[in-house]
Order: sequence, then structure tokens, then C-alpha cells
Amino acid sequence: MKNVPVYKNPKKSVEARVRDLLRRMTVEEKAAQLMQRTIGRDVNPENVGPDHPFDPTVGSILTFTAGAAARNAFQRIAVEETRLGIPIIWGYDVIHGWRTCFPVPLAQGCSFDPSLTEKSCRVAAEECWADGGVDWTFSPMVEVGHDPRWGRNVEGYGEDPFTNGRFAAAAVRGYQGRRPSDLKKPGRIAACLKHFVGYSACEGGRDYNYTDFSVRALREWYLPPFEAGVRAGARTVMSSFNCVNGVPAVANKEMLTDVLRGEWGFGGFVVSDWGAVSQLSLQAFSSDPAVQTLATLGAGNDMDMADDAFRNVPDLVRAGRLPVRVLDRAVARVLRVKFELGLFENPYVPELPREKTCRLPASLDLAAECARSCAVLLKNEGGVLPLDPKKVKRLALVGPYVDSPLAHLGCWRGMCSEEHAETPTLFDEAARFFPGAKIELERGVVAGANECVATAAYEKPDRAAIARAVRAARRADVVVVALGETGRSSGECRSRRDICLSPAQEALVDALAATGKPLVGLVLAGRPLAFPKTAEKLDAMLWLWQGGSRGAQAAWELVTGKANPSGRLAMTFPRAVGQIPVYYNAQPRCRTGYDEYQDLVGENGPWFPFGAGLSYTTFEYGKVRLECAMRNAQCAMKASVRVKNTGKRAGAETVIWYLSDLESTSTQPARRVVGFEKVFLEPGAAETVRLALKRKDLAAMQPDGTRRFEPGAFELSASLRASARFEVP
Ligand code: GLC
Repeated sequence: MKNVPVYKNPKKSVEARVRDLLRRMTVEEKAAQLMQRTIGRDVNPENVGPDHPFDPTVGSILTFTAGAAARNAFQRIAVEETRLGIPIIWGYDVIHGWRTCFPVPLAQGCSFDPSLTEKSCRVAAEECWADGGVDWTFSPMVEVGHDPRWGRNVEGYGEDPFTNGRFAAAAVRGYQGRRPSDLKKPGRIAACLKHFVGYSACEGGRDYNYTDFSVRALREWYLPPFEAGVRAGARTVMSSFNCVNGVPAVANKEMLTDVLRGEWGFGGFVVSDWGAVSQLSLQAFSSDPAVQTLATLGAGNDMDMADDAFRNVPDLVRAGRLPVRVLDRAVARVLRVKFELGLFENPYVPELPREKTCRLPASLDLAAECARSCAVLLKNEGGVLPLDPKKVKRLALVGPYVDSPLAHLGCWRGMCSEEHAETPTLFDEAARFFPGAKIELERGVVAGANECVATAAYEKPDRAAIARAVRAARRADVVVVALGETGRSSGECRSRRDICLSPAQEALVDALAATGKPLVGLVLAGRPLAFPKTAEKLDAMLWLWQGGSRGAQAAWELVTGKANPSGRLAMTFPRAVGQIPVYYNAQPRCRTGYDEYQDLVGENGPWFPFGAGLSYTTFEYGKVRLECAMRNAQCAMKASVRVKNTGKRAGAETVIWYLSDLESTSTQPARRVVGFEKVFLEPGAAETVRLALKRKDLAAMQPDGTRRFEPGAFELSASLRASARFEVP
């Protein structure tokens, strides 16, 4: 390729192309690469428009539904009408699907099947790339969540660091492919691990609030899922709004450079969260835009999201305040990912008809499979479930969410439609699962004009509505009530001071229970809720979370026994909001036998623990067998347990391996997850599930945040159903 600049020659190495392009760029062109603008539906003042004409040298655009054709039109200007023709990288929040909506990530964590997350992220990548012109998603979010008052637990995979790490890696593989070279392929997009780091520790569960956690918590809980994502090859990271040890994450050199690059070797780029650079003024860090820019670029945050904060970069360079090497370091990271994505060779996406790229039958089938696998059966008194449709001639379908598409979609639903045709509801789907039955729909509450965020504010108890629901219940063979939250009640800036049902829903369940009819509760929610007293009035309770485009279908498949529930809670359910924080891998109390609360007598511990979940069949565990008790550092201890389906229905069982360190020089959690595996077993079938552990896997967390192996006694448990103690010298 004679006379072609090195940076335009795909035969040259990425590093050679980066170096060549850098040396050709002016300081203005470099600064532009570190800026992200928005386009399309939004209220952002930086939106491209009359006041902010499109700058084709900008590094990134947050698309807000610009779509493939619009993307290509803008991209063509950037590539064909600018001096260097550097393509724009187009980003968007594709969190759990683009037009095929998958279960919310917290629900996915309850599947304990990361392979489903990898597949769903692959579909999401292919759809958003082809239909939306998206090259880069701001996902996966891998926050370890301990506080259900915080609305964003829904975006992560639960409270366990190990589990979050497995799902983070699966999502990265889904979006990017399994090898670095996959990133150039059509339909592959760059992943973004967020929010780095510790955002979920916001005090009081109040979003955007101050965070204060020990170095031990940082190393034991918050960092491991990000490390797993980096090791899986994630090409971008988003720094978080909160601060770490008093230094805002967006300007935190220890995290962004020393840990992310120094310890883990991360080679991609870091983008700020929306407006986080300018928000430094609100965190009493600095109101001086120059200091904000110098601090964030100096710490290792490379790109500014959507608030034009880096417009002062050229002046800072000319004034000698911003070293060119710091600027070049950030620009090189952004260019590197653009080269890795193949944007210089393929800057445009195909403009295909939507029916050829989105909501394909196989994708919708996958959405149904995911929804089935995520649902958690938490109660089933007397085996009231599964229902036999042949015995249901009249079905009362009650509750505020029985005909709400949004209740299945949840937050960050991408371009997924709230139309019934695309997101059928429980009511839409019921008839095909109860052929010939008379199905009566009663909401039982008076809902507000729109599904606003605060369920309690949105739903009002209404005597007439309840009376209609009761009459329908009295006529029915079985009553199914859909409870929980609206599809807008969880997500960003959706913290709640309480996590109970709305008074309207409580009153409705009371009245339905008084009829004495079999009462099945289906819960749609984006967080753990706490309503143990009301739940006592339900005969069965199936936690559907927000299951996506095929959530309603999956619900009826589980309720009627066409599928067997197999989800296990990835996040602890408190008995009451006052019990928060309560999570499985806590360090034990120093005394036992005492009520935790004088107003919760005899009710210690959570409503439902991490790992809880029932099945329509039963599983028997054999002994935990250990093959090698780790005579030396290299020897991996091999553990195994045989699991048998002793019931009459096929079903999937998740073996969760917990390790307890029984003697250590610093206090350790009662147990921590060191492995999990989901196995499907026909009735009577058995399978041996295995685990290999090295000495380093047993290392105890120290107060300074390091792990150190300490000889002594340990216990390995399989799902708390079988365990074995062992000594390691
Ligand atoms: C938001 C969120 C972040 C999201 C970004 C872009 O403020 O904190 O998770 O990716 O803005 O929408």
C-alpha cells in the first residue's frame, strides 16, 4: 500500500498506527478525541443541534437512538470530510438488550448461568450494531450490591463478588467476542465495565451519595468483579460518580492508574460518567475547570462524557499546564480501541431492514429461556404450583401489573417497545396457557396517570377496585396476583426509603386471601422487596424480576409446569428495610443466641438468604469428597459432590460452593462463594459436580486489603446441603 499513511494501513500494528496518527494530530484534534457529545432524544445542552453544531472531529457520540443511517451520515463527514478522517466511536447504554429485551442483570445473576448472559449480550451487540449503529455499550455494570434501597442493584449481578465477576466476564465475551481479534467482526462492540469503583456503597442507598468503605471492602468486594472483567478483555471502563477514600473516582489516580493499569494491565480507555468531570465542583473537589481537567486526565480518566469539560485542553497545553505526554497517553488509548474495533477500515454499519437484524425468532426464544432461568420460586405451600390448566376453568388475574408491558421491561430497556405486540403481558399470554378457561382481569388498585417511579405514590387503594377483584376471585378456581414494582421503580436515581409493597397492593392481597381461594403471587420487581407478613397470605410466590420481551410467556410456562423454576437469589432479601445491610458473606456476630432487633423477636437473619430458591422437584446431595488436601502450594484440592434428582420432574440445580476459613489472624466472612455450577437432571438422574481449588484460593483477606494464605482449618460446603472440613498445613 504505497504512499498510504501508516495509520491507514491495516497491515501495520495497532501501536504503529497509533504512534503515526498521534504525531500527525494538532492539539485541537487530540482534545476532540477525548470528548463525547450526544445526539438525539435528550435534554442535554451539549446535544448536537443549532447551538452545538456537529463537530466531525469529536471522539465519540452517545447516540440516543440516532440509528444506523444517521450514524453513517455523521460518520461519513468525520471520515471523508476531515483532515485525518478519524472515525467516531458511537456509544449507548445497551444494558439488557436493544430491541430484544432480556431479563434485567440482577435477574440474570439469579440464573447462576453466565452462558445465558454471554449469549444475550451477543444478541444485544448484534442488534444495536446493525440497527442502532452502536460500537460501544456502557455495560456490564458489576457493582456488588448490599442495599436494596439503592435503585441500581437491578443493573448488576447481585451481592457476591465472585458471581459478579463470572457474569462480568461472560458479558464482555458476549459483547466483544472471545478473542481480541473478534472485536473487528461485524456485530461486535466494545464493553465498558462500570462504575469504577464502589458506587453501590452510597450511604443510605441514596443514589449519587457519598461512599466510605475500608481498603478491605474495596479489595474483598468492589474490585474483584472489575478485575475479572479486565482479565476477560474489556476494552473500556467507566469511572464512577462516587469517591474512593475521599478522592472522586473520576480523578482517582490510585484506582485509574495504579490499580487498573498498574496491577491489572488494562490497555483500553476510561470514560467518565455523565458530567462527572464538571460535577467535581459539587464534591468540593474543585470548581476550577482547569483543575478538573488536569486532575481527571492526570489520574487516568481519558474521555469526558457529555459535558464538554475538556474544551480547555488546548489552552492548558499551550499554557504548559497539561503535559503533552499526558494528553497523548489519553488520546492513544482512545485511538487504540478504535483501531481494535476496525473502525478505520469499516467505519459504517450496514443499513439493513429491522426485521432482518432485530427480534429474530431465535433471539426471542433465548429471551424466554433466560426469563425462565432467572425466576426464583420462593414459596409453594402444599405444592399449589404448578397449576394444571385442565383444572382451571376460571382464572382471576389480578394486580396492577397484569397487563403492563413495562413491568417486564424494567429500566435501561434500550429500544425495546412497550407495545403489547412486542412485549406481551401476563394477561395477553394467559389464554394460550389456560385454553378454554374464563380469564377475568382486575387491577385491584387505581393506578396513577403514568407508571411513575414511586409505586406507593402511583397506586391508590380503592375499595371499588378491590371489591371487583374479590368478586372475580370468588368466581375463580385460582387467583394469580401480580405484585411488586412498576418498570420505572428501579434504576438510576430510583432509591427508595422503604422496600415494601404499596399500601394498595397490601390491601388487595388481604382481601384476596380472605376469599380462601388458592392465591399465587407473581412478583415483578427490579430489587429485593420486604413484605413477609403479606407473603404469608400467598400460597405460592414466584419472583419473576423484570423478565424482558418474553417475561410473561416464561412466567406462565413456569406456573403451569411446562418449565421448572431453577433460579437462586443472587441478592439477600431483608425482612424489613431497617435490617439493611444484610448479606450472606458477612463476618459473623461475636455473640449468638441474641435477637438482632427487639422488634423482630425470634426472627434473626434475612427474609430469604442469598442462594434461596425452590424447585418442583427435589435434589439429594451426596457427601462432599476431597481428593487432595493440598500438601503443597501447587496441589489443587479437588472437591466433588454427587447430586441426584429424587423427584418426578426434570429440573436444574445450582451447586454453589462456599468456603469458610475457620481460623485466621483476621476476621473472615462466615462463608464466601468460590464456585458454582448449574446442572440439569432428569428424574432419577445424578451427576457429580466438581471443583478445583488452589492454595491461593484459600488466602484470607487481611486488613490492608491483601490476601495471604494461612494454614489451618477450612470448610467447603455445597449449597449448604453437604460439607467437608479439611486442614491445610
Ligand atoms: C448515567 C449513568 C451511566 C450511564 C451514563 C450514560 O448517568 O450513571 O451508568 O452509562 O449516564 O447514559
